[in-house]
Amino acid sequence: MKNKKIREILKRKNKIPIVCLTAYSKTIAEILDKYCDIVLVGDSMGSVLYGMESTREVTLDMIINHAKSVKKGISKSIMVIDMPYQTYRTKKQAYNNAKKIIKSTKCDAIKLEGGKKIINIVKFLIKKNIPIMGHIGLLPQSEKGRFKFKGRTLAERSKIIEDARLLSNAGVFAIVIECVEERLAKIISKSIPVPTIGIGASKHCDGQILVTDDLLGLSNFTPRFIRKYSNLKKIINESVMKFRNDVIRKNFPSKKNIY
Ligand code: KIV
Repeated sequence: MKNKKIREILKRKNKIPIVCLTAYSKTIAEILDKYCDIVLVGDSMGSVLYGMESTREVTLDMIINHAKSVKKGISKSIMVIDMPYQTYRTKKQAYNNAKKIIKSTKCDAIKLEGGKKIINIVKFLIKKNIPIMGHIGLLPQSEKGRFKFKGRTLAERSKIIEDARLLSNAGVFAIVIECVEERLAKIISKSIPVPTIGIGASKHCDGQILVTDDLLGLSNFTPRFIRKYSNLKKIINESVMKFRNDVIRKNFPSKKNIY
């Protein structure tokens, strides 16, 4: 693997936890870059930013445009981009789209959802020297209806373990494990040499990722795996209300704000 930053991530297995968050713009990326190892331009932007029903509506052009903005805020962390739904159905399609994403955004790696089902595509991209991050467990691009945690049945648990093993053998540099029960995340993290990045997958993973809007208290999404570190919605509300009052009372602009 050519990318030194990505080789460093592989060495973090069972060592210092890997810190990851999502960004869709330069402003947020600039802040995250100081604290994160990996910044993901996630297709969660569909619901978080665009109010879409699911991540399935996110297009290649949308993700590329946001990634171009994010890239401007990144200087040290690894930038990973989600391949949108239906953009990696065949090896050829996946390769052409991955090349387009990398060429137009200069990102470090690509993330694909799935294990066994897409393993030949993952192997093909890695053979073409494209660094890949895996994503197993709950797969938002494949979900219908309400999201439920994965690993309730033996069959489901075996499938997820098999997905992790296949991706690890294929040469991905990290695997996101989304919404699985704690015991399963522990088994997977202990049984593969590749770092696992959890979201709703317990502290047994080698790193953690959250959607930045969720941790900042900007979204209305409140599953139990999120910890809100601030309430930006409240802060923005108060600021906008103060501005409104100042405009109405003619307190803004003041002498300081005029030419
Ligand atoms: O799209 C996204 O933001 C993601 C993370 C939640 C892992 O895939």
